[in-house]
Amino acid sequence: MSIQRIAVIGAGTMGRGIVQLFAQAGYSVRCYDAVEGAAQKAIEFVRELIERAVAKQRYSPDEGAAIIARMSACLQLEELVGCDLAIEAVVENLEVKRELFRRLEALLGEKAILASNTSSLMIAEIAAGCSRPQRVAGLHFFNPVPLMKVAEVIAAVRTEPAVISALTTAVEAAGHRAVVAADQPGFLVNHAGRGLYTEGLRILEEQVASAEDVDTLMREAAGFRMGPFELLDLTGLDVSGKVMESIYQQFYQEPRFRPSPLVAPRIAAGLYGRKTSEGWYRYTDNQKQANERTGVPAINAELSVWVDPAASDYERLQGLVLEAAMESAASPAAADVLVVQFWGNDLARYCAEQGLDASRAVAVDPLPGLDRRRTLMLSSITRAVVRDAAWAMLAGQDVPVTVINDSVGFVLQRVLASIVNIAADIAQRGIASVADIEDAVRLGLGYPRGPLSLGDALGGQRVLTILQGLHRLTGDPRYRPSPWLARRVALGQSLLSEEAARQ
Ligand code: NAI
Repeated sequence: MSIQRIAVIGAGTMGRGIVQLFAQAGYSVRCYDAVEGAAQKAIEFVRELIERAVAKQRYSPDEGAAIIARMSACLQLEELVGCDLAIEAVVENLEVKRELFRRLEALLGEKAILASNTSSLMIAEIAAGCSRPQRVAGLHFFNPVPLMKVAEVIAAVRTEPAVISALTTAVEAAGHRAVVAADQPGFLVNHAGRGLYTEGLRILEEQVASAEDVDTLMREAAGFRMGPFELLDLTGLDVSGKVMESIYQQFYQEPRFRPSPLVAPRIAAGLYGRKTSEGWYRYTDNQKQANERTGVPAINAELSVWVDPAASDYERLQGLVLEAAMESAASPAAADVLVVQFWGNDLARYCAEQGLDASRAVAVDPLPGLDRRRTLMLSSITRAVVRDAAWAMLAGQDVPVTVINDSVGFVLQRVLASIVNIAADIAQRGIASVADIEDAVRLGLGYPRGPLSLGDALGGQRVLTILQGLHRLTGDPRYRPSPWLARRVALGQSLLSEEAARQ
């Protein structure tokens, strides 16, 4: 089955992008919108973009003219007759989409494919209104369509495999990566994106760190383009808040997706983010306003430091003690400051287990190495003089330090482990293949690497240790490790290995 003529219904934000993408890729594209003049406006909008690209010599004049000639606006739905694929990007309303598909099905004939760009509706529910539900699938693009180089091809329960492969071919011919996902809540990308938000919010709820500190750690230490709160401000809390609620409800209150009670009061107060100039941050002319940072305390060379020999970065930490010209103590009893490191634990419990005085103790997150930004964690009784001495020492070599309150798994361990765990569960549920999970998250969410390769980089065993610690110490089932992850760790397998093909 080969697709040549594409109909795009709905000429708004997404429709325009879809028209542009396929016209650029050589398809003939017709666009229709229920509002008079809207389709013409969309074509005009894309035409201007192409003309600008020609002026910048991204296309030759002939190429530009050919792209423009391939797009046309329709005044009536009937003018779409002859299209092999119809992609709808109309309002997010089940009845509207069903009615549209019923009409399209009658117009385009039994071979045509009907695809919906819905973000949150079930494809099977849209298809159920059609007499040929096997010809219906999801084709979920991201905004802005030409730049977000991935599309989810959603196979509903009755969708024919040939429809999925035809859509995959068309998307890839347009230069985007097509990932195939099951018709499950949030499909693939929005499902995989839960970990960053829910865990970020949970950390804030527990008063572990400020929104800004969490974002800074995710960016500077973990290499993400944006932290969870910056992302929420970008999307708008009004929109993201609804997605959080709906995915949680659609998965029948799965604790991993439990939304945060911090969100509703902020929505009520209109703190949506960039679009209202205030969210987790304040914005002036769409520029984020930075908060004042607290200065680093002065080195206190009078104090002695004991570094736990069990610390993963023992040598590096000892080096920092020397650099700060502090005395290195041979035992915890003789030291003013106790520096420890661990995975999947909190400082209070670590001190209790090891018989250490928590008022003299601080913990340093071993993640992700001590190079870019360091996390210093305090117990509820760590003394201010101990905090300041450890802070000054850790800030050596001009590496910035984030000071946080006691938390099982600091900030990064728990956020990263949650992201890996949710991805493992997506694989467990057979929603998508490992390769598609990886690419969908990198391209759709802009993470520095796919979630399962992130898990491999941390070490599957380590991720499991963090989750088990979180689960045991908080008692919260949201942290229960995915069986998919636990089994791969038990077998010593990479998280990037696909299921073995059995004859
Ligand atoms: P939009 O509001 O910008 O555009 C929708 C267009 O559809 C409007 O021009 C409207 O006149 C037209 N329309 C409404 N009912 C129609 C009908 N019965 N027949 C023909 N045209 C009709 O909406 P947007 O943002 O482009 O979203 C469209 C779809 O894409 C929705 O299902 C949305 O959930 C989904 N989506 C949106 C994303 C986004 O970031 N905006 C991302 C991914 C999916």
